[in-house]
This record gives sequence, C-alpha cells and structure tokens, in this order.
Amino acid sequence: MGPEAVKGESELVIIEVFEDSQLWQQLWPVVEALGQENYVQVQAEHFRASHILAALVNGQPVGFLRFVVQRLGEDEGRPPIVFREQTLYEAKIIAFGVLPEERNLGIGRSLQQEAMRRAKALNCCQVRSRSAYGNDANYHLKISLGFGIQPSLENDSVYFIKALPAVDGLKSN
Ligand SMILES: CC(C)(COP(=O)(O)OP(=O)(O)OC[C@H]1O[C@@H](n2cnc3c(N)ncnc32)[C@H](O)[C@@H]1OP(=O)(O)O)[C@@H](O)C(=O)NCCC(=O)NCCS
Repeated sequence: MGPEAVKGESELVIIEVFEDSQLWQQLWPVVEALGQENYVQVQAEHFRASHILAALVNGQPVGFLRFVVQRLGEDEGRPPIVFREQTLYEAKIIAFGVLPEERNLGIGRSLQQEAMRRAKALNCCQVRSRSAYGNDANYHLKISLGFGIQPSLENDSVYFIKALPAVDGLKSN
C-alpha cells in the first residue's frame, strides 16, 4: 500500500508486522500504552491465521490492528456454514488501537480499510469485531464504514459485522 497524507507533511503507511522483526519491537510500546498486550498475543486453536498491521506516521508506529482468520462459527462451537460447496471463513479483529495524540486523523479508518482489503484477499466472507458499549469513537468509525451492529449479552458488548461480498469464491454466477 502506498503512503497517504494525514496532516501537513506527515505520511501514513499501513504495513504488516511479523513477530521476529525490529518493527515488532518498536510497535510493542504502543500496544502496551493502549493496554492491549493480551489481545495481540492470545492464541486459540480455531485461529487459522493471524495478521498484525501497524500504522506508521513518518516511520514511527502509532497504531495497530490484529485480525485472525477463523472458520465461521468455530469459536462458538457451531458447525461449518457452507455456501456453494465452500466453507465460509471470517476475519475477526481482536486488537485495534491508535495512540491518543494521533487520534481523529483517519489512522483507525485506514487500518480498518487495509484489514478489509486483506480479509477479502484471504477469501473471508466478512469482517467482525467486538466492542464495549459506549465506545463512541469506535461506534462512529464502524458505522461510517458500513458495519452492521449486533448487541450482545456477552460482557456488555456489541458485535460489528461487515460483509465482504466481492470474494471471488462466493460469486453467485
Ligand atoms: C477507536 C480508535 C482506534 C479510532 O482510531 P482513530 O485513528 O482516532 O480513528 P479515525 O480518526 O479513523 O476515526 C475516528 C472517528 O471517530 C470520530 N470520533 C472521535 N471521537 C468521537 C466521539 N466521542 N463520538 C463520536 N465520534 C467520535 C472521529 O471524528 C472520526 O470520525 P470521522 O472520520 O468521520 O471524522 C481510537 O479511538 C482508539 O485507539 N481508542 C482506544 C482503543 C479502542 O477503543 N479500540 C477499539 C475497540 S477494541
């Protein structure tokens, strides 16, 4: 992905980070500052793949997003959902944050858009995430990106779900 202007001379780049890299070391304090260490590190048997994206402004990490690929329903112990003989997969965003001083500049939106682009390329039929009630900035961002909302009794939360209908394998003709 090419760099985007965010403010003045600043340049925003969204890039995938691998755990054995120097960039991972630079990103980690940002993860800690936002208290999302557990979400960035948690592993589960039903995670088929895991991707961490970093947002860099002028080369410095200021935000991140982690999504995992999972078979639709597996995290709930439900059987596969099959469409046109293909088992459906989703991208679940489980960590997402931007440093307070860099917020409201479009960085979170760029991370979400890059996650959706990658999820589509990975043949996921939807992107999903969970949020606490009353997270106004996250609500605004998700709703304006076209996510639907499913309120949940689990941990006083809502699920945000966005279909990715252009996946080649799911075309209806
Ligand atoms: C959610 C979060 C990642 C968004 O990052 P960001 O870089 O500020 O996101 P963006 O700038 O792309 O978009 C934020 C949008 O929310 C809007 N917004 C900010 N505060 C708001 C509020 N209190 N009420 C309503 N909208 C608000 C902004 O105006 C912006 O909308 P716009 O693009 O239409 O102008 C960031 O707020 C954050 O790190 N929060 C703490 C961690 C968190 O809540 N993570 C998500 C749940 S796990």
